[in-house]
Amino acid sequence: MPSTCYEHRPLHVAIIMDGNGRWATRRGLPRIAGHSAGAEAVERVVEAAPKLGIRSLTLFAFASDNWKRPPAEVRGIFALVERFVKRAVTQCVEEGIEVRAVGRRDRLPDALRAAIEETEALTRNGKRLTLRFAIDYSSRDALVSAASIAGADGGSREAFAYSLAMAYGEPGRRLPDVDLLIRTAGEQRLSDFLLWESAYAEIHFTRVLWPDFGEAALRTAMLDFEQRHRTFGGLSAYDAAAQTPLTTELEWRPA
Ligand code: FPP
Repeated sequence: MPSTCYEHRPLHVAIIMDGNGRWATRRGLPRIAGHSAGAEAVERVVEAAPKLGIRSLTLFAFASDNWKRPPAEVRGIFALVERFVKRAVTQCVEEGIEVRAVGRRDRLPDALRAAIEETEALTRNGKRLTLRFAIDYSSRDALVSAASIAGADGGSREAFAYSLAMAYGEPGRRLPDVDLLIRTAGEQRLSDFLLWESAYAEIHFTRVLWPDFGEAALRTAMLDFEQRHRTFGGLSAYDAAAQTPLTTELEWRPA
């Protein structure tokens, strides 16, 4: 079996890119150097993802709670995202990668918002991979907005997912459920990221710091995913088979 052939492939992979600061501190560098190395890891992962059969990749670039960081660090992260979306546009068009952003746009610097919107427009026909940056993103805030759009009864789960799409500024386009959620740098929490979409996500925590992440670490996460038995609350084929003698036993009555 070729090494890129996974039996159960995660179609939507979402990543909490953590550990940039620690990576820089360990080298005696300013934190922004860690974010800059993190931007290079983003390039590696975006290049590897479609080859591995991933159709949707969502990267947590800036949490709404990250506004609590020093303004210089916030500006530095925004500058890196702007540089990435501007530089990547030609390659994304050539490689069929659609770029989108989820999160609040009204607080982003004008130049970043304009760069994102231009890249979204130019890459909108990409069919191989949808690459989303979650930026100024809070899952709880998105759920609150979606609830006000959905109205009093909330509707069905499916309808609510579309309300969430409206809250994300992507009306009519439901963000797919996350199959595999990766968090780097050893922390084991969700940090207000894709709470609705990750209801049945398999979660892979790795100690690798984000700037050291690349195709090899992504493959490791995918192999981990492949070992998981996903039942979505039902029974796997194995468990279902095991139920047969159990049922028989329960129905059995001593003579
Ligand atoms: C978390 O590491 C990382 C962030 C808050 C920012 C992520 C940003 C990038 C990867 C850079 C550019 C992004 C794109 C999309 C090109 P941390 O700073 O919290 O690390 P620490 O926990 O070690 O301090």
